[in-house]
Amino acid sequence: MSEPSAVQTPQAFPPRIFSGIQPSGGLTLGNYLGALKRFAQKQDEGIETIYCLVDMHAITVWQDPAKLRQQTREGAAAFIASGVDPARSVLFNQSQVSAHAELAWIFNCVARLGWMNRMTQFKDKAGKNAEAASLGLYAYPALMAADIMAYHATHVPVGEDQKQHLELTRDIAAKFNHDYGVEFFPIVEPLIEGAATRVMSLRDGTRKMSKSDPSDQSRINLTDDADAIAAKIRKAKTDAEPLPETLDGLKDRAEARNLVNIYAALAGMTAAEVVAENAGALFGTFKPKLADLAVSVMAPITTQMNRLMQDPAEIDRILGAGADRAEAIARPILDRVYDITGMIRSRR
Ligand code: TYM
Repeated sequence: MSEPSAVQTPQAFPPRIFSGIQPSGGLTLGNYLGALKRFAQKQDEGIETIYCLVDMHAITVWQDPAKLRQQTREGAAAFIASGVDPARSVLFNQSQVSAHAELAWIFNCVARLGWMNRMTQFKDKAGKNAEAASLGLYAYPALMAADIMAYHATHVPVGEDQKQHLELTRDIAAKFNHDYGVEFFPIVEPLIEGAATRVMSLRDGTRKMSKSDPSDQSRINLTDDADAIAAKIRKAKTDAEPLPETLDGLKDRAEARNLVNIYAALAGMTAAEVVAENAGALFGTFKPKLADLAVSVMAPITTQMNRLMQDPAEIDRILGAGADRAEAIARPILDRVYDITGMIRSRR
């Protein structure tokens, strides 16, 4: 089994998990395998888990307000349908807890321009016309650091693409601690684990599966029905070679490797186990097997999401209750940040 070992605490802070997903529309199999599935598993490791729909991150690029509300609810439904239990985890949307925005400002004053300039996600998202990008898109990683640090979270399960942002989070926390002469913020550990830390496009094994890819064939959406899932896997780009005996044989076969990784993550196996079990199989055989597996795992999630989406008021109630719990953790931490930084707090 490739699934992660229990979380270890590298510092004096009690272990606490935080992670977030943007409700910017269209969650994919990448989000499920790289994040949601693992978020649910983390609930069984005896550690407090806090999960957030980061709506304030989403508006760093334009979002239609009505759609954003809908997507936030859909995101919450995806968490719950993937096994995140709002009774066992804190589940909420970011904008309901103002500590995120408040701490982000402090971190804007800690992070250096030189650090932000290295962020590859900004470069990717801003594209050629960076002058027209929002200031929020540029400052985004400082808000992400605030999301995590507002809870003194120690461990953050994410996909591979968030690694650089978590390194920046560590740098911001360390600089804050150093500048103010405190040991106040933990140095967070990224948890990038399992067979699907980077699920690739079904059309191009060198590109990440992403909701922003113009081709819908490149990804499996959490809202796709069984027929669509099976059709996309059948049409996925591969090669004419059979599966090798060992993983080494997949070195220069990005598309083949991706399908093996997806199979492994869906089945809870290692990629090596999948290859060993299917050595010699051609894609004509392996793809239908993968399609059946994907449908059997994903269809119940989609059904459950659709069911939950029929009661938006209940979703809003869950998010509100989660926000109350989140606020109770974050507010005292933020108060101490204000004391450390020399802000007068004479209202309460
Ligand atoms: P976002 O919304 O782009 O993605 C949410 C999570 O899904 C993972 N992921 C993938 N994993 C594997 N393969 C893929 N193709 C794939 N695509 C997405 C991402 O790595 C992520 O874990 N900045 C974050 C959201 C965020 C956050 C945070 C995360 C805001 N604050 C604090 C952790 C802690 C983002 O844009 O993720």
